[in-house]
Amino acid sequence: MDTKKILFVCLGNICRSPAAEEILRTMAAKEGKNWFIDSAGTYSGHKGQLPDRRMYAAAKKRGYDLTHRARPVVMSDFLDFDMIAAMDDDNYETLRMLAPDIESEKKIIRIREFFNPERDETYVPDPYYSGNEGFEYVLDLLEEACENIVRKRF
Ligand code: 4NP
Repeated sequence: MDTKKILFVCLGNICRSPAAEEILRTMAAKEGKNWFIDSAGTYSGHKGQLPDRRMYAAAKKRGYDLTHRARPVVMSDFLDFDMIAAMDDDNYETLRMLAPDIESEKKIIRIREFFNPERDETYVPDPYYSGNEGFEYVLDLLEEACENIVRKRF
């Protein structure tokens, strides 16, 4: 049975990771994959909020309806998920500090592992203080990474 549980993690859980969640959910469903996909933040200040309206609008234009409510990473995530994908190095280091044991640490990866090899970028930049082009670029990176996740069946 092809069931995977994947958690995307960024800082606020209102821009990058909720977009990644919905993109992968859409792509996995198209491929008939029964995956459980969620997202969370290392910072809890936006808990309960819907995605940032700029990310919501940019994603909607590409056919993704973002309905996730922000939540912080919790200890049970390290048990519940098979893979925990960090958007940038700060998220990665925070997750590694939070991980309760070695087995949990092994589940944490940087999303750049799924970028195309010719891609120079090494992380998904925080778009929060950027203009609209920042959000489009984030979506470009996330679509590329999610397509590779679906294709590689890690
Ligand atoms: P995200 O973007 O980590 O992609 O959700 C951010 C959202 C909020 C903040 C920073 C980044 N913030 O500082 O409130």
